[in-house]
Amino acid sequence: MSHDAITSHLKETRRFEPPADFAKSARIPTREAYDAMYKESVESPETFWRRETADLVLRTPWTTTLEWKLPHAKWFQGATLNITESCLDRHLMTATRNKAAIIWEGELGATKTLTYAQLHRETVLLADALRKHGIVKGDRVAIYMGMVPEVAVAMLACARLGAVHTVIFGGFAADAIRDRIHDCQAKIVITQDGGYRRGSVLGLKEAVDKALAQPQAASVQKTIVLQHLGHDRCPVKMTEGRDLWWHEIVGESLGESREATVCEAEDPLFILYTSGSTGKPKGVLHTTLGYLAGVHVTSKYVFDLRESDVYWCTADVGWVTGHSYIVYGPLSNGATCLMYEGAPNFPDWGRFWRLIEKHGVTTLYTAPTAIRAFMRQGDEWPKKSDLSSLRLLGSVGEPINPEAWMWYREQIGGNRCPIVDTWWQTETGSILMTTVPGAAASKPGSTGLPMFGVVADVVKKDGTPVGAGEGGMLILKQPWPSMLRTLWNDDERFMKSYFSDVPGVYFTGDGARRDEDGYYWVVGRIDDVLNVAGHRIGTAEIESALVSHPSVAEAAAVGRPDDLKGQALVVFVSLRPGVKSGPDLVTALGEHVAKEIGKFARPDAIRFTDSLPKTRSGKIMRRLLKDVAAGRASTGDTSTLEDLSVLAKLRADED
Ligand code: WT7
Repeated sequence: MSHDAITSHLKETRRFEPPADFAKSARIPTREAYDAMYKESVESPETFWRRETADLVLRTPWTTTLEWKLPHAKWFQGATLNITESCLDRHLMTATRNKAAIIWEGELGATKTLTYAQLHRETVLLADALRKHGIVKGDRVAIYMGMVPEVAVAMLACARLGAVHTVIFGGFAADAIRDRIHDCQAKIVITQDGGYRRGSVLGLKEAVDKALAQPQAASVQKTIVLQHLGHDRCPVKMTEGRDLWWHEIVGESLGESREATVCEAEDPLFILYTSGSTGKPKGVLHTTLGYLAGVHVTSKYVFDLRESDVYWCTADVGWVTGHSYIVYGPLSNGATCLMYEGAPNFPDWGRFWRLIEKHGVTTLYTAPTAIRAFMRQGDEWPKKSDLSSLRLLGSVGEPINPEAWMWYREQIGGNRCPIVDTWWQTETGSILMTTVPGAAASKPGSTGLPMFGVVADVVKKDGTPVGAGEGGMLILKQPWPSMLRTLWNDDERFMKSYFSDVPGVYFTGDGARRDEDGYYWVVGRIDDVLNVAGHRIGTAEIESALVSHPSVAEAAAVGRPDDLKGQALVVFVSLRPGVKSGPDLVTALGEHVAKEIGKFARPDAIRFTDSLPKTRSGKIMRRLLKDVAAGRASTGDTSTLEDLSVLAKLRADED
């Protein structure tokens, strides 16, 4: 593990008090109010969670708040519910029934709105169709779709039956789809013909076809295909006996099908694959009520959600941010969410700002990499639109540099909106640290204070806490309701990945420091995981994709600091005997990675080397490679053969 990242000391001293106008009517209006809630959540979790989940229409209340046998937590045992009743049915009895749940805008400008009543209806109808095609409680269903309202319908329809969804980000390539299907033995895949991205058509069904053509995907019995673009724009091949059109299998009447499956609090809700430090993606498992409690409470308090808000989280539903803060969290709160299909810069860099003006967006939740990209395009783009509807801004996915934070505050928030910098992970299920809007001052670049029930610390490898302002490993000392329960099919890896670096506690993989005010500053991953433009990428996954190419003998992937992406992906490759390096091979290897994993994982630079530097025990010296990658900014010299073994010899004793 490299510790270079955590020794950096930020010199940021600016702090911004909560805007008075905002604080006046905020859900948590003062620091004292936050402190009291936090204290209660940690000292009397039962009282806290019973009150905060009171509106979630549980079928039966829980009897045991927490059972904790490291590393396994069970929350709220005894409770039964169906999460779609908490997210949908409960709103049908109130005025929220006819309120927009999802306002969708397609990349080419089409719009569509689903009210809560409509979203409920579509969910129930699809659930009924899934049931008729053999899906029962506990079955896994893969969802490979773009940003269309039906992706939420698909997730909720699974949940309606107690089936476990695994959403596969639409940017993943066929082989990555195959691996995920294989790991969880999905019975059905729900997909769509295609979607738009930067004006061109992405064939999603086509990628599913390629994945299903491989024997590893044999668990799949049926696919359900949403016709989103239509035959003229995106023709698809339907396989007789396997492929079904969504519109042909859903019924027209709710009839008796509206009944939801009653689930236990700890029944699995979804699996979401994420990158770890070995090549195989981890199937992070979340269960029902603990997850719901986490996303419900954080949506409400972190975003200060109101009936009147138009809330926009720009993440893709294929990542955890979309699961928690487009689907389950906002819907359980009866919020109105904007969902946008396409790219932020299509047809130009003004698209986001026009969307905000057009739909009266009040709350924007986006990623630092996007903010930096907008900042680079200049202030004139946001200035063209009226952004006065905004009242709160959020950031997630990677550390935000203070310069981008200030730009976000000034140019987008008009100096009037609080910014919540939210830290969490696929594994944590919901936001665990955040600026508390209305209650506590924010500091540019700091992820603020722990959320309810979260007991964090910054420690050395042996578990002893570091002093204020010192760098260390970010750990979580107590279980929290929305934590992952295990890794699908791999409980041993679950223990090893999260509970063995620092014995007895959950290690996040992040380096951080905590300042004198108790504010956390997350520096970034200190394990072998990269964060490239907000995408979590395991170096080992990239490496195994590269070595599967016939020209490659060995490969090492590292991150290089990048102004726009946070980290850029640099790979060092040694070739098999007789293979010649050159620009053609650079292109071929880039395409190979894109094909194996997805375009978002294509390396930013590929460098050839005679041999990779290794320690005496044979470990690749990533720290050295990181230095080499950072030292030469140019990506042009990708075809020179470097003799890293010389450097390695010089530094062999260091690791
Ligand atoms: C990793 C988790 C949480 C949803 C999106 C990413 C980094 C996340 C922040 C933040 C600094 C952050 C961490 C974390 N990260 N949010 N506000 N400040 N770093 O989920 O793909 O599971 O990645 O993203 O390194 O460990 P993920």
